[in-house]
Amino acid sequence: MRIRIEGGTVVTAADATRADVLVEGETVTLVGRDLSRIAGPVDRTIDARGKYVLPGGIDVHTHLDMPFGGTTSADDFETGTIAAACGGTTTVVDFAIQPQGGTLSEGLAQWHQKAEGKAAVDYGFHMIVRQVTAGTLAEMDRLVKHEGVTSFKLFTAYPGVFMVDDASIFKALQKTGENGGLICAHAENGGVIDVLVAQALAQGHVEPRWHGLTRPARLEAEATNRVIALAEVAHVPVYIVHLSATEALAEVREARDRGVAAFAETCPQYLFLSHENYEEPGFEGAKYVMSPPLRPKGNERGLWQGLRQDDLQLVSTDHCPFCMREQKELGKNDFSKIPNGAPGIETRLLLLWDAVRRKELELNRFVQITATAPAKLFGLYPRKGTIAPGSDADLVVWDPGKSLTLSVKSLHMNVDYNPFEGKQLQGAPETVLSRGEVVYEKGRFSGRKGRGKFLQRSARQFD
Ligand code: URP
Ligand code: ZN
Ligand code: ZN
Repeated sequence: MRIRIEGGTVVTAADATRADVLVEGETVTLVGRDLSRIAGPVDRTIDARGKYVLPGGIDVHTHLDMPFGGTTSADDFETGTIAAACGGTTTVVDFAIQPQGGTLSEGLAQWHQKAEGKAAVDYGFHMIVRQVTAGTLAEMDRLVKHEGVTSFKLFTAYPGVFMVDDASIFKALQKTGENGGLICAHAENGGVIDVLVAQALAQGHVEPRWHGLTRPARLEAEATNRVIALAEVAHVPVYIVHLSATEALAEVREARDRGVAAFAETCPQYLFLSHENYEEPGFEGAKYVMSPPLRPKGNERGLWQGLRQDDLQLVSTDHCPFCMREQKELGKNDFSKIPNGAPGIETRLLLLWDAVRRKELELNRFVQITATAPAKLFGLYPRKGTIAPGSDADLVVWDPGKSLTLSVKSLHMNVDYNPFEGKQLQGAPETVLSRGEVVYEKGRFSGRKGRGKFLQRSARQFD
């Protein structure tokens, strides 16, 4: 199949040029002017005049079909990746989990099983490490060298579930110094948070807003500082996931200014929502229970600034949806039992485009933080994350004039609410290609479940 995308403005992290894009099979083969005259006949043309042609989005933080908080996230690899495609995201990197008392390989096999035959776009895996032993350290080598799983998440939060001690984090960091992997850290001080949670509950504070009040920004900053210090001593890069507080961002910025290879992502919820959402009436605040929590209004200004000046390298979603009915409701009488997480896999590009439209974010920076930086940091570049001859034809024809209102009724995620319900936006995908196949057009998913391929990622390409 040969497809020519004609007359759009082709945007990469570096350029924005009027050009045609020739797709042959699964790959981009030519980018240039007037390809109809020089590159022969095609099976299909896509008119992109007045539109942008962007690299498909890469979301490096999703939790599909994830058992957590006494239930399982509401999107599996089928519904989640279909929603991703409809929102212009053509690659996801999901978190496989080491089973309690089990091996990394067992966790990886489980995640392959969850995704195979279901994923509608390409996917990779990080591995959540719950126990750092000689065995798991050896397995980390194997995953990096032979399985294409080159990043590992360790937690300083969720005692008894995911939290590991500093020595474990340090050993895992040192291991990545040998094998070229990357440690991703969930940085909040879980032990102290548990004390604050117990004290709040003992005083009868059961409402969702106490989730935010018991996870202070200072404890995110402290853990961020600690993880970076461990990486500095181990002489390896480190990546902070779902950074929410500007106090934590200051730790990343100071480390980077000292020359430490510290990287961090934030998520749309921290850019567009705030602690005030926890104050919504009744149990509505449960919609926003996630960790780290939403921060007070004004905090987002520092995050936007961080994104503009590269203290934050990218925006992922931390997509971890739970329905209000039967899932979030588990914490109706105790905020600490509300499953942590929110949906976002479909709305990341739509929301961030709003900042481009408002001229708060440059067009090239939009591509950088949604596609190119994720690809580079997580071993997918240049196959993914750019538009160039030889790259996968993961492409989004973006209509900057399209108006839409975010609503659970029209979005594809398998969850009964949307945290951004009613938000009016302008700019949306018109056509989405994943490895040369049109998977979204005319407002509908047009791909197939199971067509997504597992991506073997490379070890570190940066330091
Ligand atoms: O609340 C969140 N973030 N849920 C997903 C699990 C995690 O820590 O990323
Ligand atoms: Zn986390
Ligand atoms: Zn997460």
